[in-house]
Amino acid sequence: MNGENSYKLLPAGVRLLAACMAVFVFSSPVQAGDGAILKYKNEPITPIPLHSGEDPDIVSLGRDLFHDPRLSTDDTVSCAFCHPIEQGGMDGLIVSVGVEGRQGPINTPTVLNSGLHFVQFWDGRSPTLEAQIDGPTHSPLEMASNWPEIVQKLNADDEYKERFAKLYPEKGIHPDTIRSAIATYERYLLTPNSPFDRFLRGEDDALSQEAKQGYVLFKGFGCSSCHQGVAVGGNMYEKLGVFRDYFKDRGNITKADWGRYNVTGVEEHKFEFKVPSLRNIELTAPYFHDGAAKTLQAAVKTMAKYQLGRSIKDHEVELIVAFLKSLTGEIKP
Ligand code: HEC
Ligand code: HEC
Repeated sequence: MNGENSYKLLPAGVRLLAACMAVFVFSSPVQAGDGAILKYKNEPITPIPLHSGEDPDIVSLGRDLFHDPRLSTDDTVSCAFCHPIEQGGMDGLIVSVGVEGRQGPINTPTVLNSGLHFVQFWDGRSPTLEAQIDGPTHSPLEMASNWPEIVQKLNADDEYKERFAKLYPEKGIHPDTIRSAIATYERYLLTPNSPFDRFLRGEDDALSQEAKQGYVLFKGFGCSSCHQGVAVGGNMYEKLGVFRDYFKDRGNITKADWGRYNVTGVEEHKFEFKVPSLRNIELTAPYFHDGAAKTLQAAVKTMAKYQLGRSIKDHEVELIVAFLKSLTGEIKP
């Protein structure tokens, strides 16, 4: 286990009290990073900035590349094929499907707000969005292409040539500039203004009573010891199965289940994953790296049992789900 978790070792009563105080002791308004006023400071979750500040021409180039199937070997699969933006930035499948219908080993995470994560992929094997792009473009189960092939295809397109020459005069169409444009587009894909963020900024009636109660439970149970920060996740690794053996109960362990161990080879990193962001979580079923939970209710119950060693009542699950649904923000057109 990494840092931050001493919180969840506190007795339940103390945790609940701390959580209640955090919600009900209001502090004076402060300036959020982007200039907006933040009413609730000292919360484990902070609002997504309203503006990301990327160059609009590079964003637009990155958007076109992201939606361009020529990045795959047979011109059939774009990034958006597996990460459809309007549907929440992921495909809704248990595991991804790439060129020629080839099935991948793991569930597709959303690209929305991926720029807020400390590393990319479930196992964190890419340190940046730029580095991440070599994964799907080269994976035989995804786009099965390579840089010479991609650069050649894009070079045959006069419009791309012109745009790259203007925005990247030194390199033109090059793996570095393709990576840069796509990553810039991804950093632009923030989803601000969720009801929960509006609540944090002081709009008390942006959240239903249920969602407010759900948030108190989310903190009281200790969910926020792992899912926290601006992305409500995406800032640490944790084992799936802290209190009980998830994988023994599920059976059929695959290499993908080893998580962080596949990157470091360190035995104690087995079954550790990047704690996923819970932003827009209502849009991105099925859940977990193995796509095993079909509903948010099922995911919350699994978390209570395996991550916190607690039983949770059905009405508490519903309240937490109401809170989780308040994390759905605005998807940029
Ligand atoms: C065939 C489906 C497929 C295609 C095509 C695809 N992805 Fe993905 N993407 C996935 C899967 C599956 C993962 C998770 C893989 C893992 O963690 O091992 C992923 C992970 C990611 C992540 C990390 C998100 C996170 O939370 O860690 C980003 C960013 C991303 N993809 C962007 C892209 C970009 C950019 C492209 C196009 C160059 C692309 N993807 C093409 C399926 C796909
Ligand atoms: C000890 C850290 C930890 C705690 C505590 C924790 N989680 Fe998680 N959570 C994780 C990790 C790690 C994953 C990814 C597991 C995987 O898919 O392998 C995850 C996944 C999830 C997912 C699915 C995300 C997705 O994109 O598939 C949801 C929903 C979720 N957690 C909600 C909660 C709730 C609600 C609580 C409190 C009841 C909670 N979590 C407590 C670490 C934690």
